[in-house]
Amino acid sequence: MKDILTELEQRRETARLGGGQARIEAQHGRGKLTARERIDLLLDEGSFEEFDMFVAHRCTDFGMEKQRPAGDGVVTGWGTINGRLVYVFSQDFTVFGGSLSETHAQKICKIQDMAVQNGAPVIGINDSGGARIQEGVASLAGYAEVFQRNIEASGVIPQISVIMGPCAGGAVYSPAMTDFIFMVKETSYMFVTGPDVVKTVTNEVVTAEELGGASTHTRKSSVADAAFENDVEALAEVRRLVDFLPANNREKPPVRPFFDAPDRLEMSLDTLVPANPNTPYDMKELIHKTADEGDFYEIQEDFAKNIITGFIRLEGRTVGVVANQPMVLAGCLDIDSSRKAARFVRFCDAFEIPLLTLVDVPGFLPGTSQEYGGVIKHGAKLLFAYGEATVPMVTVITRKAYGGAYDVMASKHLRSDFNYAWPTAEVAVMGAKGATEIIHRKDLGDAEKIAQHTADYEDRFANPFVAAERGFIDEVIMPHSTRKRVARAFASLRNKKVQMPWKKHDNIPL
Ligand code: HXC
Repeated sequence: MKDILTELEQRRETARLGGGQARIEAQHGRGKLTARERIDLLLDEGSFEEFDMFVAHRCTDFGMEKQRPAGDGVVTGWGTINGRLVYVFSQDFTVFGGSLSETHAQKICKIQDMAVQNGAPVIGINDSGGARIQEGVASLAGYAEVFQRNIEASGVIPQISVIMGPCAGGAVYSPAMTDFIFMVKETSYMFVTGPDVVKTVTNEVVTAEELGGASTHTRKSSVADAAFENDVEALAEVRRLVDFLPANNREKPPVRPFFDAPDRLEMSLDTLVPANPNTPYDMKELIHKTADEGDFYEIQEDFAKNIITGFIRLEGRTVGVVANQPMVLAGCLDIDSSRKAARFVRFCDAFEIPLLTLVDVPGFLPGTSQEYGGVIKHGAKLLFAYGEATVPMVTVITRKAYGGAYDVMASKHLRSDFNYAWPTAEVAVMGAKGATEIIHRKDLGDAEKIAQHTADYEDRFANPFVAAERGFIDEVIMPHSTRKRVARAFASLRNKKVQMPWKKHDNIPL
C-alpha cells in the first residue's frame, strides 16, 4: 500500500513539473508565471481541485508517442474566489508550448460543461502556441468543440479570458467569444495571422507587440478589456472582477458588506457642471461620488474614452454604469463608443445587473468617417441594447441630452424605470446655436439678432422642465442627492420583472 501511495505522489510530482525545471525557468525568465502558479494566485489559497492531471495525448505521429507528459499542456479544475465557485483552465507553455491537442481540448471542454451545469464562471488562462501541429485536424476539431461551448455558455455563465502569452491563429476566437479579455503588457499577444504572414501577404513590417500586444488591443482594436503590468496584477484584477459578477444568469450578483451610507449627500456635486455649457468636466467624479466607498471597476478604460463603462456597488449590490464623458469629444456618441457601451449593456442585461446611465451627450459625432464607417448601424446597437434590456434602469441627465442621442441613452421611451435630471439638464433636439441657424435660416439677421434667437431657444429648451412636464423626466433632483436618489430607486426595483414577446432571438444590427 505504501508503495502505491508513494507512486501516486511521484506521479503527481512529475505532472506538476509540466515540461520540466529548465522550461519552468525559461518561463520565469520571460517574466511569466507557470500555469500552476497562476492558478494559485487566482484562486483562494488551498481551494484548487484539479481534474485530469494524468491525461496524456494519443498522438503517434512525428515521434510523439515518445513524449507523453501528464496533463498534456493544460491544468484544469475548480476552486473558489472569495468563497465563490469558479472553474479554471490554465495552459502550460512548458509542455509543447501549451499547444492544443485533442486531449488538451477535451480537458477544457470538461471544465466548460461542468461550469454550465453547475452555474459558475469559467476563467481561461491562455498561453499557447495554438493548434498542436503534430495532430493536424484532430487539434482543429478540439478548438471547434471549445468554441461551440463558448457560444452555448454565452449569457449563461460569465466567461473570462486572461491572455498571458501567445494566442494566435484561430485560437483567438475562443477568448473573443468570452465576456472579458484581460492581457498582460509586453508578454501577451493575440492575432489571427502573425508578423511573418503579414509581411509575406501585405509587405507590412510589424512587430508582434505592435500587431497584437496589450496596448494595441486595449487602445485600438478594443478586442481586450484591460491590460496589466504583469501576471500577478492581472490575476488580482480578475478576482476583483469576479466579485462584481453573478455566478450565472439565474442568480443575482453577490451582496457585499458596505460601509458607506446610502443617503450620503455629496455637496460638491452641486458645482460639478461648469457655468459655460461648453466647458468639460470629469464624469468619473460623479461615478466615484455615487458609488459605495467610491469604488469603480472600469471596463475598456483605454478605448472610446468618450463613453465610460464599468461596475460600481450601491448598498453592496453591483450596478453597471454607462456614462458619457464630456472630457473627450465633448461626450459625443460615435461608432466606437456605441459599440463599447452596447456590448456592456448587453452583458449587464444578460446577467441581471441593473444599469445606471449618466447622460451628458451633445449628439452623434458628425462626419464622413463616421457615416462611411456605419455609425447608423453601430449607433443602433446601443439603441437596441438599451431597448431590449429588462434589468432595472436608472438614468440621470446631468447636462446635455440632445437629439437622437437623448433617445439612445436609456431614455424613458426605451423603458428606463427612473429618469432623473439635474437642474442643469438641457433636453432638446440640438444645441441652441445650431437650432437657431436652422429655424431662423431665412431671417438670421445680425449678430445681435442671432444672439437673441439663441437666448430665446435656450430659455425655452435649455432646461429639464419641458421634458419633465411631459413625464419624460420623472423628477428633477439636486446633484448633491444623486447617490441617495439612485440608491433608493434601485432598491425599489429589486423585484422588477418584464416579459418580452417570445422570439427565437433578436436581430441586433451587428
Ligand atoms: C506543437 C509547439 C507549438 C505548436 C510551440 N510548440 N507551438 N508544438 N504545436 N503549435 C513547441 C515548440 O516546438 C517548442 O518545443 C516549445 O513549444 C516552445 O516553443 P518555442 O518556439 O521554443 O517558443 P517561443 O520562441 O517562445 O515561440 C513561441 C511561438 C512559436 C511564437 C508560439 O512556438 C510558434 O510560432 N509556434 C507555432 C505557432 C503556430 O503556427 N501555431 C499554429 C497556429 S494555427 P521544444 O521541444 O523545441 O522546446 C492555429 C489554428 C487554430 O493555431 C485553429 C483554430 C480553429
